[in-house]
Amino acid sequence: MRYIFITGASRGLGEACLDVFRDDRIISVSRTSIDKSYNVYKEFNIDFNEESGLEEKLNEVFQSISPSTDDEIYLINSAGTVAPVKQVRELTAEDYLKNYKVNVLAPAMLIKQFINTFENHSGKKRILTVSSGAAINPVEGWGAYCSSKAAVNMLDSVVRLETGRLDYPIQSAVFSPGVMDTDMQAEIRQSDETSFPDVERFKSYKSSGKLNSAFTVAEVVKKIITADDFSEEAVYNVSDYVK
Ligand SMILES: NC(=O)c1ccc[n+]([C@@H]2O[C@H](COP(=O)([O-])OP(=O)(O)OC[C@H]3O[C@@H](n4cnc5c(N)ncnc54)[C@H](OP(=O)(O)O)[C@@H]3O)[C@@H](O)[C@H]2O)c1
Repeated sequence: MRYIFITGASRGLGEACLDVFRDDRIISVSRTSIDKSYNVYKEFNIDFNEESGLEEKLNEVFQSISPSTDDEIYLINSAGTVAPVKQVRELTAEDYLKNYKVNVLAPAMLIKQFINTFENHSGKKRILTVSSGAAINPVEGWGAYCSSKAAVNMLDSVVRLETGRLDYPIQSAVFSPGVMDTDMQAEIRQSDETSFPDVERFKSYKSSGKLNSAFTVAEVVKKIITADDFSEEAVYNVSDYVK
């Protein structure tokens, strides 16, 4: 039996993961309810911008399953936001906090609760956190987003060191999904050129068909996280799987 915790399951890549992992026991975590047509094992609705009580809620999420010794347990952190798209000189403290709560704090707390809840589970335990090329490539207007993804990459690097010491180690890695045809890209294309000078390039990704579908990328996620050698790489890139 395989249990898969998926965040951001209401839209985009997270939703596509509900489809590709449909034969497994999915525990979806989303702010907005997921489409009723998905037959998930459990559904939880949590707004990651509400950090008060977040740890308790996530504890409940992970305690909701009773895996047997040889069951596999995966966590896919897909929830994320690019907002707000603003120049650094305009970003407020509140702007940063709103972004970091979703892109950094939530994955950090999910990973923490995952490690602690399944500490004594000897079966396979794997975490894949969806990051972005923006973690290493600066983009004007994405000060909050780029720095959040850089943070989550480093967080995962620390997790890889620390979890190696556990009695039953956890394997983890980050994944750069490339440009996908999701609501996030639509939001990016709507940005104004003053805040985001690259907007025309992103519009051309859509018009020239360069965006991968979320389903295509979700299939890559499945290939990566179920591979025998998962986590040999610290960072996986969609470009190594989809040409
Ligand atoms: N799309 C791309 O081209 C691209 C490129 C590189 C990396 N990524 C990364 O890939 C991942 C998936 O992106 P996507 O394109 O699938 O995005 P998306 O279509 O915009 O979906 C974002 C998901 O995150 C959830 N979310 C946002 N704010 C939340 C909050 N406060 N609390 C809980 N959940 C929240 C959304 O829930 P609601 O439905 O409730 O809003 C939604 O399920 C993200 O981590 C993103 O940074 C995307």
